[in-house]
Amino acid sequence: MTISFEGRVAIVTGAGGGLGRAYALELAKRGAKVVVNDLGGSRDGTGHSDAALAVVKEIEDAGGAAMSDGGSVTEFAHMEAMVAKAKAAWGGVHILINNAGILRDKSFAKMEMADFRAVIDVHLNGSANCTKAVWEVMREQNYGRILMTASSTGLYGNFGQANYGAAKLGLAGFAKTLALEGAKYNVRVNTIAPTAATRMTEDIFPPELLERFQPEAVVPAALFLVSEEAPTNVILGAGAGVVQAAYVTLTRGAALREPTPEAVAAQYAEITDRTGETVPQSGAEQAMTILQRLQGQ
Ligand code: NAI
Repeated sequence: MTISFEGRVAIVTGAGGGLGRAYALELAKRGAKVVVNDLGGSRDGTGHSDAALAVVKEIEDAGGAAMSDGGSVTEFAHMEAMVAKAKAAWGGVHILINNAGILRDKSFAKMEMADFRAVIDVHLNGSANCTKAVWEVMREQNYGRILMTASSTGLYGNFGQANYGAAKLGLAGFAKTLALEGAKYNVRVNTIAPTAATRMTEDIFPPELLERFQPEAVVPAALFLVSEEAPTNVILGAGAGVVQAAYVTLTRGAALREPTPEAVAAQYAEITDRTGETVPQSGAEQAMTILQRLQGQ
């Protein structure tokens, strides 16, 4: 099976460098027309450059089609204008990769609330802005593939990244509900947790691992998740050519013998026992497991 993006229009945010650039180049190589969005700031989100223009040039030089967009994902009006521009030029928007991001790392004790908010604003609200801007377009055309970018920090935690972790797990939650709401309209929504050597991670990768962890090694998982045959509601981890699936699992749990905190303590081993755990596909499904547990006691 060959995965082609011929006839598709894709928006990749934060595509002026790092992972976004790698996604944009490969999408274009496989036939997509690509909107390369990036405001071209520094790692903490300050400043401005025309990084997006350089990627558009790379795509065009290789014979592909692309347009640049220098707007910030934090501006909803701008994201609406970007989508309108793409639709007017190319007739629709089929793929959105929410990839733009910044870092403001500090232990929570030292973190200013401004740094907490800035990170939430770019990752979480920024992804919501772009998604909202394409949502109706995708529903109307009965086709859409949306990818959120989470992180191992969101899924598992990382010292010094409380703001980033909150935003990143928020994105996985955002994707789960959108996957349900989009299903009827053939809009599939997934999440990727990448690991790659980019400027975002330049100070944590030992030099001997840089080669393996190139952004290009994340591209296959990301492109699969926005392809025609993509699943929906999955979280894939990807780095150095290894692809993993992450699940939010649920144990069978325990029906409390008495409605007291002491009963939780006494039955804690049963509550946390992972034998027979499941992966509910919606919140309602979790509620059903509670009823099943009561019936099974
Ligand atoms: P990067 O710093 O090279 O790419 C992020 C891009 O987003 C930059 O080009 C930046 O200018 C752009 N950007 C920032 N704020 C923006 C805004 N308001 N509007 C538009 N563009 C904006 O870093 P990298 O590693 O390529 O990151 C891509 C995504 O992957 C991010 O969401 C990051 O959090 C995520 N990620 C990366 C990991 C890694 O190992 N590199 C690990 C986990 C997640």
